[in-house]
Amino acid sequence: MNSNVSKEDRSGGPIAGWWTEAVIYQIYPRSFADSNGDGIGDLPGITARLDHLVELGVDAVWLSPFYPSPQADAGYDVADYRDVDPLFGRLPDADKLIAEAHSRGLRVIVDLVPSHTSSAHPWFTAALATAPGSLERSRYVFRDGRGPDGEQPPNDWQSVFGGPAWTRVVEPDGRPGQWYLHLFDTGQPDLNWDNPEVRTEFLDVLRFWLDRGVDGFRVDVAHGLIKQADLADWQEPQEILSGNEADRPRPPMWDQDGVHEIYRDWRRVLDGYPGERILVAEAWVEPAERLVRYVRPDEMHQAFNFEYLLAAWTAPAQYAVITRSLEATDSVGAPTTWVLSNHDVVRHASRLGLPIGTPRPNGIGAGDPQPDAALGLRRARAATLLMLALPGSAYLYQGEELGLPEHTTMPDEARQDPTWARSGHTQRGRDGCRVPIPWEADAPSYGFGPTDASWLPQPEVWAEYALDRQREVPGSTYEMYRTALRLRREYGLGQGTLRWRESGDTVLTFDNGDLTVLTNFGEPPVSLPSGAEVLHASEPLTDDGAVPTDVTVWFRA
Ligand code: GLC
Repeated sequence: MNSNVSKEDRSGGPIAGWWTEAVIYQIYPRSFADSNGDGIGDLPGITARLDHLVELGVDAVWLSPFYPSPQADAGYDVADYRDVDPLFGRLPDADKLIAEAHSRGLRVIVDLVPSHTSSAHPWFTAALATAPGSLERSRYVFRDGRGPDGEQPPNDWQSVFGGPAWTRVVEPDGRPGQWYLHLFDTGQPDLNWDNPEVRTEFLDVLRFWLDRGVDGFRVDVAHGLIKQADLADWQEPQEILSGNEADRPRPPMWDQDGVHEIYRDWRRVLDGYPGERILVAEAWVEPAERLVRYVRPDEMHQAFNFEYLLAAWTAPAQYAVITRSLEATDSVGAPTTWVLSNHDVVRHASRLGLPIGTPRPNGIGAGDPQPDAALGLRRARAATLLMLALPGSAYLYQGEELGLPEHTTMPDEARQDPTWARSGHTQRGRDGCRVPIPWEADAPSYGFGPTDASWLPQPEVWAEYALDRQREVPGSTYEMYRTALRLRREYGLGQGTLRWRESGDTVLTFDNGDLTVLTNFGEPPVSLPSGAEVLHASEPLTDDGAVPTDVTVWFRA
C-alpha cells in the first residue's frame, strides 16, 4: 500500500503562494477576547491579543462574522455587509485590527455569508413591504404555498437547524401570503443568486473589504447559493454536514453546477488586487472529486477538507483520507487543506474521546455519554502532530492550542444555538465548542474579559487549560503546538512532498522532506529505526524509546 503523492501542479512546477502552506487560525470573535467586559468578545479584544498568535506561530487569522446582525445565528445572519456590529466594535476597530495584524506579519481573512442575509437586512424588509412578484422579492426565494389556500410550504425541504425550510409571511394587506426559503434559521432568508443585482452587490462587498486590506474571504455555505431550478421535493433529512454524499443523488439545494460561475467572477475581482488575496470554500461536498471543482485554477484557492475532519481515528481511515485528499487536490493543481476543529463541530479533544465509530455528535449534553477526556486529549495531540506534518495548508480553531475540550455539561438553559430549539430539543448544537476561551487561570472569566461576564458559561476545568498555566511548561499542549509550528516552518513541511513508508492496520509512517512522521494507533509500542533522532512527539516515548499507543512522533531517520 505504498503511494507517493507530490504537490505539483499540472504544468509540473510547485504551486506558489503564501496560502498554499499557511497555518490559518480561526478566531470566533464572540469568544476570543472581550475588551469591554460585556461578556462578548470584540475586535479591540482580538487586536490586544494578536501577540499570542505571533508567539504561537500561525500565518493568518480567519475571523468569523462581526457584521451588524440580530445574532439569530451568532452573526451568520448579516444585516449589513459593510459595517461592524456595535457588539464587536466599530469599523475603525476593524481597520486597526487589520493594520496591527499586518504589522506583525499576520494575514487577515474575513467571513463572507452570501447564501442568505439576515431577515433584518434592508433588502428583506423591503421584500416584505412589497407585493408578490416585486423586484424586492426577487432578491430572495419567495414562492406561493401548496394546497388550496397556499397553506402548505412550496416543497418539503427541511432547514439544516431542524423544522421546515420555509416560513410564510403576512402580506402588506394583512393576509397570510407567500413563503420564503431559509435553509438555516427563519432569520436567514436565502438569496436568489439568479438575480443579477445580488451578484453585483456581492462583487461590491468583496471590493469593500479588499480595499480595507483584507487578505481573503472564507465563503460560508459556498455550495448552497444556487438551487435546482424546479425546487423539487427532496424527502431527506437535512443537516449541516450533509453535502453531497457519494452514494445518493445530489440534493437539489447543494452543489449545483451554477455556483462555479459565481466564484469565477469573484476570482477575477481578487486577481485585480495585489498581494495574493484568497477565497476559501466552506462547502460540505462529497466526494473529494466534486469538492475540488471549487478550487480549479480560476475559482477559489482553498476548500475546507471536511472529509478529513470526519475521518475515524484508525490507521486505514487516516491513510485513505490523506491519500485521497492529496490526489484530489493535485488533480486540479490546488493545495490540500487540513482541519480538525471549528465553530460548528465538537472539539477534536472531545470528539476523539468518544468510542471509535461513534457517529458525529451535533453537540454533547450533560445527559449524553461523556467523552473520555484524557484519551480524547491524547488522541487530539497525536492527530494534531499528524496533521501539521502534512503538506498543504492547515486550519486551527481558537483554543485547540490549549487542548480545550468541548463543554459537554453545559446547562441546556444556557444554550443559544438555534439548532437546540429548532430541532425540538433533540440536537444540542454547537454551543459547546464556542465557549469563551481561558487565558489566565485565576482571573475573572479566566482572562477572557475584565469581568466575570461570559455569554456562554465557562466550565471550571477551564482554569487548568488556561494559557498562563501552559506557557513555557514543557509538554503542555500549547508548547507542543508552538514547537510543531516552528519545526513545520523550518522543515518546509507545508510545501513538502508526502511519501508513505508504512500504512498498516495500526501504524502510519511517512516522509515529508527530511522529516519522518510515525503515528501508532495500536496497542503495542512501536520501535523507531535505530539511530532515529526524535525532534518532536505528542507524548513521552517509553523508557526504551518506543512510540506508545495514540502517539505521533517526528524524527529524522
Ligand atoms: C456555516 C457556518 C455556520 C452557520 C451556517 C449558516 O455552516 O459555519 O456556523 O450556522 O453556515 O450561515
